[in-house]
Parts: sequence; C-alpha cells; structure tokens
Amino acid sequence: MITILLFLLSFGFSNGANVRSSEGRIGQWQLLLNNTGVVGMHMALTYKNTVIMFDQTGAGKSSYQLRRRFNGSRCTTSNHDLMDSTCYAHSVEYDISTNKVRPLRLDTDPWCSSGSFLSNGTLLQTGGYERGAKRIRLYRPCGNHQCDWIQSKKSLSDERWYASSQILPEHDRVVVVGGRRVFTYEFVPKTSPGEKSFELPFLHHTNDRNAGGNNLYPFLHLSSDGNLFVFANRDSILLNLRRNKVIKTFPRIPGQGSRNYPSSGSSVLLPLDHRDNFTKAEVMVCGGSSTGALKAAGGGRFLQGLRSCGRMVISGNKHKWDMDYMPQPRLLHDMLILPNGKILIINGAKQGCAGYDNARNASLEPYLYSPKKKLGKRFTVLKSTKIARMYHSSATLLPDGRVLVAGGNPHGRYTFNNVAYPTELRLQAFVPYYMERRYHNLRPSNLTIEYGHGGESHAIGYGNEFRVRFWLGKGPSNEVGFSAYAPPFTTHSFAMNQRMLKLRCKSLGRSGDGWVVAVLEAPPSPHVAPSGYYLLTVVNGAIPSVSLWVQFAHALA
Ligand SMILES: *[C@@H]1O[C@H](CO)[C@@H](O)[C@H](O)[C@H]1NC(C)=O
Ligand SMILES: *[C@@H]1O[C@H](CO)[C@@H](O)[C@H](O)[C@H]1NC(C)=O
Ligand SMILES: *[C@@H]1O[C@H](CO)[C@@H](O)[C@H](O)[C@H]1NC(C)=O
Ligand SMILES: *[C@@H]1O[C@H](CO)[C@@H](O)[C@H](O)[C@H]1NC(C)=O
Ligand SMILES: *[C@@H]1O[C@H](CO)[C@@H](O)[C@H](O)[C@H]1NC(C)=O
Ligand SMILES: *[C@@H]1O[C@H](CO)[C@@H](O)[C@H](O)[C@H]1NC(C)=O
Repeated sequence: MITILLFLLSFGFSNGANVRSSEGRIGQWQLLLNNTGVVGMHMALTYKNTVIMFDQTGAGKSSYQLRRRFNGSRCTTSNHDLMDSTCYAHSVEYDISTNKVRPLRLDTDPWCSSGSFLSNGTLLQTGGYERGAKRIRLYRPCGNHQCDWIQSKKSLSDERWYASSQILPEHDRVVVVGGRRVFTYEFVPKTSPGEKSFELPFLHHTNDRNAGGNNLYPFLHLSSDGNLFVFANRDSILLNLRRNKVIKTFPRIPGQGSRNYPSSGSSVLLPLDHRDNFTKAEVMVCGGSSTGALKAAGGGRFLQGLRSCGRMVISGNKHKWDMDYMPQPRLLHDMLILPNGKILIINGAKQGCAGYDNARNASLEPYLYSPKKKLGKRFTVLKSTKIARMYHSSATLLPDGRVLVAGGNPHGRYTFNNVAYPTELRLQAFVPYYMERRYHNLRPSNLTIEYGHGGESHAIGYGNEFRVRFWLGKGPSNEVGFSAYAPPFTTHSFAMNQRMLKLRCKSLGRSGDGWVVAVLEAPPSPHVAPSGYYLLTVVNGAIPSVSLWVQFAHALA
C-alpha cells in the first residue's frame, strides 16, 4: 500500500536551529479549574488518562463538600456536619478529557505518602499519617468514573510518613524507603513469608536531627543494572536489594545546604538511551535549602535557597558530580522529563524551606534544562505564571504534552485569608513551546501502534519489535526519535518512578504522502524498564507528538 523508502533514523536537519533558538520565555499557562476541591499535594497520571489527586484527611474541611458520606449517611447543613471532616473529600479523580473532578473515598490518612504503578497500571500507594502510616492502598484506574481507593488487607511493617517508593524489576515488587524517624526500607509484597523491614544505616547517618531530618523523601532511582540509587541530604549510595547490601558510596554533592525534605530540592534520572544499550544511568539533583533554613524560618527569616544542580553518572565506576547553576535559587519545585528529553523545572520558591509557612518568594518562572547543550547554556527561563505554587504543590506531565500544575497549601488546614500564601485550589496547565501553532507542521500526528501478535493483550515483550505509524506531513523535518515515559507519582518535589527511555528504531519508512512507519524495539529488560504502562512519543527534532500508552511486560508464558 505505501511505498516504503528506508531512511536511517534521520530525515535531515533543516529546521533544528530554528526550534532551538526560540524557546526563551515561551510557553503558555492555561487555567483549567478554579477549584479542584482538594489540594493537589500528591498527583499521578493513570493510563486511563485520569489524574489522581489527594492531600490529607486530617486537614478537616476541604473545599469539596459531599452530599453523602462515603458510608452513605447524608451530610446536612447542621453545624455538626459542616464541621465533620467525613463530609468532605480529600481525594479526587481528574478526568483530562472532560476537565472535571469527582470525589474519591479515603478511610485513613495518606498524608505525605508514596506511590508506584504496578505492571497492570494499578497504583500502589503506601503509607501516610497516624492510622494511615502503615496502610497500603490500591487504585485500579477506570475509564467509567466507577473506580475508587481500595485499602489492602496487608500492612507495611513500619510507619512510612515522608517515605519514597520505587517499582523494581522483579514482577510487581515495590520498595519503600525511609520515613520520619524510620531508618529502614521494606518490600511490598514481601520477598518471603514473615519478612519485615531492613535496616538502612545510611538513613541514620544522613539525618540532621535538629533540622527536620533533611533526608526525608529520599530521591530513589532504579539504575540500569537493577540496583537502587538512594540520595539523602547530600549523600548517595547504590543499594543491591537482592543482597540487601550497599555496594557503592558516591561522593558527596559539592556545596552547602541540603537537598531532601524539608530542604526539598528535586531530582531526576536523565533519559536512558538505546545508543549505549541503556547502560549509562545519570542522575541530576537541583536546588534545595541553605543550612539552617528550618530554624531561621521558625524565626521569620527565610534563607536564600540553593541555585546549584549536580549531575553524576551512577553506572560504571567513575563518579563525579558535575555542577551547574540555575538562573535563580529554588526549592519546593518539581522536575519533570518532557517528551523531548529536556527537563522542566516548575513550581516552588526561592527562600526558606518546606513545612508550614516556611517559604517565601515564589518561583513563578519554569526553567527548561537541555541536558545536551554546553555547560552555561543549558537553562532557559520560560513564561511565568501568576499563581504561586509553594509547599504541597505538584506537577505532572499529560499525554498531550502539557504539564498539569496543582496544589499548594503551606497550612495545616484550608486557609484563604490573612496569610502570605493561601491554600491554592486552582488547576493549571503549563503548555510548553512545542505545542505552539508555528510548530504544528513539525509535530508528528495521528499515531497508531501495531503490536504484531494480535490477540487481547497489548503488552509488548522485552526486546520485541513493534510498529508505530504516524503522519509527518511534508514540512521540513528534523531527526526523528522515540521515547517511552513511565508516569510518576509526584509529591513533595519528587516524581517517584519517573523514567524515560529513548527507544531503538530499527527501520523507518516514509511514503510519499507523509505517512511514516517505524519499527521499534521494546526495552531489553525490566532493569531498564520495569513492566508497566509507558507513554510512547514520536519526537521530531525537539517537537513531540501526542503520546499513546504502551505496556511493556515479560513475555507471556
Ligand atoms: C475562574 O474564575 C474567574 C473569576 O471568577 C472567571 O473569570 C474564570 O472564567 C474562571 N475560570 C474557570 C476555568 O472556571
Ligand atoms: C456514617 O458516619 C457518620 C459519621 O462518622 C456516623 O455518624 C454514622 O453513624 C455512620 N452511618 C453509618 C450508616 O454507618
Ligand atoms: C493489578 O494487580 C494488583 C496487584 O496484584 C491487583 O490488586 C489489581 O486488581 C490488578 N488490577 C487489574 C486491573 O487487574
Ligand atoms: C548492545 O547489546 C547488543 C546485544 O546484546 C550487542 O551486540 C551490542 O554490541 C551492544 N552495544 C553496546 C553499545 O554496548
Ligand atoms: C526574591 O528573590 C529574588 C531573587 O533571589 C531577590 O532578588 C528578591 O530580593 C527576593 N524578594 C524578596 C521579597 O525577598
Ligand atoms: C489525523 O487525525 C485528524 C483528527 O482525527 C484528522 O482530521 C486528519 O485527517 C488525520 N490526518 C490524516 C493525514 O489522516
């Protein structure tokens, strides 16, 4: 049907320079909703194109009043019911296509918890506060507005408040690391019956007892060899979880201050690339708070945050932090990998630290970080927003390339008056430059994925080929690449389980009329890409298509 001409990964470079030079101050902000009802403290995009958001049941009244409690009894306008926290939602599901939220049921408090998606797209959420601190909850995404939180009958071994979690290469096993005054990690599910948690002295050593810890919500990244990178405060290790052994201690990141909660910098694993067989794993850590920021904030002084970013290759055996500087100091921000492999730094503040009313001077301008540019030229300042996103805000990438921005509440309750930064319930999308009209002719469109084997399962086995068909028009084109992105669970400035792979393209055929068929190779192993749903994107130069979901999985028996 189509006359296929073979090209080798490239159509030429005619427009690359033009795309690169026009990123500055570019991008748009959309106000999607004035009231999500619930603070978007934790957010996760599901493969059903819904976004789960929640904050804390302990906050009492939210702005989402229920007509009925989840147990069925009516919520009246009596003073008793107006004050009864069970008459308010603290979790919602946001439907991207209808731009609406609906309330979800929470029985215990998931405040400051962690989460990971399992291979079948179910969100495994772990920990929280008080009665919620040992809870395991599941959310099985649906497209019909019927699904809700399910509390597992199993519990965690230790209380996990401010812990991080990471999905592991072993089928559907998650590791949960740390928490307030908890210096251990544990598996969900356990690797053997009767197993408890494992001591991790590293969490003791990195704990600044008089500064709120500075090692909570440790940054976790699954390295390409299946080992777990753990960064806390200023230090980092590589943990072999099969042997429960620290196999590497990395150099300390240069500079003063601290990077983890309540200093709350952020971190990403830079995209893994087929060109080195996905072996090179490099992490990046940006921003955080100055030494003493928590104590100073308690006294009404808000210390300047950190401007520095460090990058370090954690695979191989040479490890050194390469330092760079953001245009401004920053903390309480989120770092997201955009479909074109660049890093978006969004939300946060310039002074202070995390915790109630501990930060000032909102960072209203996102930054774009281009990992491949020359040192000194990597940061671009993007279009600023008018809405401060301070403590307890979050951000998540959407399949169409926009970035959803929600939340912000540096108070124990919903507080709208007489405070420096009121509770923020407006929902925004940041629309990156690549979605502008002038790039439309460069945006690959009309994607379909062909799995080859037919049948019901749409999962693609590791190392298997699959085909992507898309339209690229006749306009000038750049180098075409293909990325797969694991959607994170985002909270407290860390996008847990965020991961991007630049996939191998084995052949690319283009017909005269603008249709392109690419034969791609799935990632080689679950070490590189734990099984689950990924967003597949065709990237033309730096201009990504709308993304489609694919599932990578172990070969079916
Ligand atoms: C939000 O509220 C403002 C002011 O009332 C209104 O102008 C605007 O249309 C609303 N936006 C949305 C998305 O509801
Ligand atoms: C539902 O919860 C409310 C508030 O906790 C309680 O007063 C009421 O008795 C419960 N109703 C049922 C049917 O369990
Ligand atoms: C996915 O797996 C989890 C854990 O095994 C299970 O509880 C859940 O029901 C599964 N979801 C679907 C959609 O099958
Ligand atoms: C990648 O792996 C393949 C097969 O495992 C091997 O043939 C090739 O040499 C490797 N390439 C690199 C760059 O390591
Ligand atoms: C906010 O931060 C900027 C940049 O660091 C600084 O110039 C300014 O003085 C700060 N504003 C306040 C009110 O502290
Ligand atoms: C791509 O999809 C859009 C919307 O579904 C459609 O209008 C358009 O004709 C399609 N383009 C091609 C080349 O088929």
